[in-house]
Amino acid sequence: MTDTPPLHVAVGGEHPYSITIGPGQLADGHALARHVRGRHVLLVSDSEVAPLYLAGVRAALLQARPDLLIGEHVLPAGEASKTLAEFGRAIEALAALGATRDACVLALGGGVVGDLSGFAAACWMRGVDCVQLPTTLLAMVDSSVGGKTAVDIAAGKNLVGAFHPPRAVIADTQVLSTLPVRELRAGLAEVVKYGALGDPEFFDWLQRHAQGLSAGDSALLAEAIARSCAHKAAIVARDPLEKGERALLNLGHTFGHAIETEQGYAAPGRDALNHGEAVAVGMVLAARLSTALDRAPAADADRLVALLQSLQLPVAIPAGLAPQALLERMRLDKKNVAGRLRLVLWRGIGKAEVVADVHDEAVLAVLAAG
Ligand code: NAD
Ligand code: GLY
Repeated sequence: MTDTPPLHVAVGGEHPYSITIGPGQLADGHALARHVRGRHVLLVSDSEVAPLYLAGVRAALLQARPDLLIGEHVLPAGEASKTLAEFGRAIEALAALGATRDACVLALGGGVVGDLSGFAAACWMRGVDCVQLPTTLLAMVDSSVGGKTAVDIAAGKNLVGAFHPPRAVIADTQVLSTLPVRELRAGLAEVVKYGALGDPEFFDWLQRHAQGLSAGDSALLAEAIARSCAHKAAIVARDPLEKGERALLNLGHTFGHAIETEQGYAAPGRDALNHGEAVAVGMVLAARLSTALDRAPAADADRLVALLQSLQLPVAIPAGLAPQALLERMRLDKKNVAGRLRLVLWRGIGKAEVVADVHDEAVLAVLAAG
């Protein structure tokens, strides 16, 4: 543990919980164990995170609560594991543990582990506790907060899932030191999203600190995480089930998910994008579409592109993805109503909005230019 005091963000609403952000949190057994009500804990992680951190979390928990029965379940790392088959294996692990209704699933990993573990917790015995221990920047600023849990199917991302708020979120910023730089930058795409959708001052701050953030400056990252979590916490407290404004958190996601699905959830490579990168491209497409529909100035789209590029994020659709195929993927987005496209667009930096009935031709033109 270090002496840096953790930051706290409270998530309000019907199921309140706390987000704790700071270095050394995973070594603090009491901080982890205080969220475990019963005796059964299933520690879920992936094949890259588990060798680094799983034994430490287990030891810290047992030091604080020697009576705990701790099972472990490790998925192969990567988006390709966010499947119904892997979900089934996590459920079998809960069964093998003999987990009772007061059990706790600890999700130690990035958004893939978090989403799948949260969904397993939502379903086991119709719902047990889940504590999110995010280890990627993306998971710390977005996926661990708000209770959206899901797995992908071939037809689309996150199409099978549940709303299941975590009991707590504990983000140990020290683990970002082992995160590959490409994954760090992917997380910064979701950070940019908060500025782009509702906070021009935060957008300016990101522009000023882009170099330090993409180089992994820990003080800047801690501030970016806390400010992002505060944004997300405020929105999900007001609209936990995405009946309204929560949809704005999907700025760039309809395009981004289409790219990810069309890539077949491939492991990130020279052309295949990871989730955060796909969201970066998606936000640019949403901004360009807003300009094409005369809803927003082109200069704001240009500023967004410049910020993403300064964070070394992609801003164009990878080669080989056909516009028509991407449009077909967008039709299965969860925001659509009665088969009509509903997209999150913007009026400019800090002013996102949901727009219904966007015509296919306009979307296709942006995808073709993209
Ligand atoms: P990820 O979970 O695949 O993690 C990225 C890679 O980093 C993996 O290979 C992982 O093993 C590795 N890794 C994680 N932490 C590490 C560490 N500290 N050190 C070294 N390696 C580490 O990807 P992600 O970007 O964290 O999450 C993307 C997923 O999150 C997508 O499936 C997306 O749909 C989902 N998501 C969900 C929400 C939500 O609200 N539930 C929001 C945004 C994204
Ligand atoms: N990442 C979008 C949401 O949580 O609603």
